[in-house]
Amino acid sequence: MISETDTGDDPADGWFPESVAAGYDAPGGANAPEVVTPAVDVLENLADGPVLEFAVGTGRIAIPLAARGVPVNGLELSRAMADRIAGKPGGDAVEVTIGDMTKTRMAGEFSLVYLVYNTISNVTTQDGQVDVFRNAAAHLRPGGLFLVEVGLPDLRRLPPGQDIVPFAMAPGYVGFDQYDVVRQEFTSNHVTVSPEGEGRFRRIPFRYAWPAEMDLMARIAGMRLKYRWADWDRSDLTSESTKHVSVWERVRP
Ligand SMILES: C[S@@+](CC[C@H](N)C(=O)[O-])C[C@H]1O[C@@H](n2cnc3c(N)ncnc32)[C@H](O)[C@@H]1O
Repeated sequence: MISETDTGDDPADGWFPESVAAGYDAPGGANAPEVVTPAVDVLENLADGPVLEFAVGTGRIAIPLAARGVPVNGLELSRAMADRIAGKPGGDAVEVTIGDMTKTRMAGEFSLVYLVYNTISNVTTQDGQVDVFRNAAAHLRPGGLFLVEVGLPDLRRLPPGQDIVPFAMAPGYVGFDQYDVVRQEFTSNHVTVSPEGEGRFRRIPFRYAWPAEMDLMARIAGMRLKYRWADWDRSDLTSESTKHVSVWERVRP
């Protein structure tokens, strides 16, 4: 049987409740040092004083950044995710607030606000994404920087009449994205089947925005583009790029 519901999760934790948080720090993938270290290198280089991570999660990036001596604050919607930070070595160096990055205002001024690992797309309306840019700008000192790391939508892989892009097919696991190109939305769909035949279906909604739309959001929020790279290695964005790392600078109050 395939079930779409998780029992025991707190709905206030959104798409990252306890059942997801429990497996989030599994070794490899996004937690591998070769993924984490280049991101931390760039963020350390851009930081010039305290920094704030929107959607800090379990501290995958925040904790190693704090370990380099950068004062790091984190804002996070899911208590289940955030609760893991304090239990990790070096986690007590990260000051965490539970809140919503579209509207929660934290005390203090920051040199850098950053939002990584596609998480801008978890905000599923254009207004909501604009609010994220505005809220980031509100936390920045003049000249401060807002960095976003996000995948580029895979629309070139959609032939006419098709709306699904598979991204994984392995024993016990199938993953695919389903696009609505009119609404600029997609869902990521994860089907997992245990060796005993017990299935789980998890569907997460996202909104995609092209870099140009994000530049406009930044402009609405009083920021302008400073850097745009294809990855943490600061390589140029090209038509073959699959993601971008963009940095905007706060230019007006
Ligand atoms: C893919 S995880 C990324 C976590 C962390 N930044 C990392 O790189 O590992 C997305 C995180 O965003 C959080 N999140 C989603 N929407 C949010 C919102 N509106 N405000 C704050 N956090 C949010 C989720 O709870 C989850 O922890």
